[in-house]
Amino acid sequence: MAFKQFHLAPSTGEAVADPRSRSRALIGGDLQMRRAHGTPSKLADPDVLDPVFRAQDFEAVRAWCQRDEDRPLVVEIGFQLGEFAVAYCARRPEIAYLGFEVRKQFCEESARLLRSRGLENARLCLADARLILPDMAAGGRLDELLVFFPDPWWKPRHVKKRLFSDDFVADAHDWLRPGGRLLLKTDVEPYAALAEATLAAHGGYRVERLADPHAGLPWTLRERRCDLHGYPTWAVAGVRQ
Ligand SMILES: C[S@@+](CC[C@H](N)C(=O)[O-])C[C@H]1O[C@@H](n2cnc3c(N)ncnc32)[C@H](O)[C@@H]1O
Repeated sequence: MAFKQFHLAPSTGEAVADPRSRSRALIGGDLQMRRAHGTPSKLADPDVLDPVFRAQDFEAVRAWCQRDEDRPLVVEIGFQLGEFAVAYCARRPEIAYLGFEVRKQFCEESARLLRSRGLENARLCLADARLILPDMAAGGRLDELLVFFPDPWWKPRHVKKRLFSDDFVADAHDWLRPGGRLLLKTDVEPYAALAEATLAAHGGYRVERLADPHAGLPWTLRERRCDLHGYPTWAVAGVRQ
C-alpha cells in the first residue's frame, strides 16, 4: 500500500504513471544536447572535473575509470557534502572512487574536504552521472554503484525525475561487473519498495533488503540527520548476476 501511495501525489491523490516506467528525464537533455545548449559552470576548484563541457576532464574521467582494471571502481551518485566519500576513501585506500554531483557548491566543498584529508583516491565530477557513466562504465566496469538518499520526487509531475527507473536499473546492470552491486539507502520506505520492485523486474539482479540499514558503511549526512531525529532508514542491494 505504501508503494501505491508513492504513485500518487500526497496532496492531490492524482494518479501518475508507473514510476518504474521510462524516465530518462535528463534535465537539460542528453550529453549532446547539454553540450550544444548548456552553459558551463564557472568552477573555481581545479580538483573538480567537468566532463560535460571540458574535453580534457572527460578524458581524465575515462582514464580514472580505465587506469587499473584490478582496482575496485566505486561510483557514488549525489555525494552532496562528501561526508561519505571522505570516510570511505580513507577506509578503503585501495579503491578508485568517482563521485557525481549536479551542484557546483557541493563539488567544491567536497573537493576541499578531500584535499584537507590528503585523500588521493577520489575524483569528483560536476555532472549528472547518467550522462557520463555510459561512456565510462559500459560493459561492466563498476564494483559498486552507490545511491544514498536520493530525492523521492513526490509530486506526480516530478516522478519522471526519480533516479530509480527501469532505464536506470538496466543501465546500471551494464555498468556493473558481475557480482558488483547497486546499493540504495533511503529514508522513504516506498522508495525502498520501488527499488526492490524495479530491480526484481529487471531479472538480472539478486535483490536484497539489508538487515543493516547502514550496510556496514560510513554514514552520510542525511543518514546522521535521520538518526538524530529517530527516523528509520532502509538499504536495498541489487547484485549483478
Ligand atoms: C537528498 S541529497 C542526498 C545527499 C547525500 N547522498 C546524503 O545521503 O546525505 C541528493 C543529492 O543528489 C544530487 N543528485 C541528484 N541527482 C543526481 C544525478 N543524476 N547525478 C549526480 N547528482 C545528483 C543532488 O544535487 C543532491 O545533492
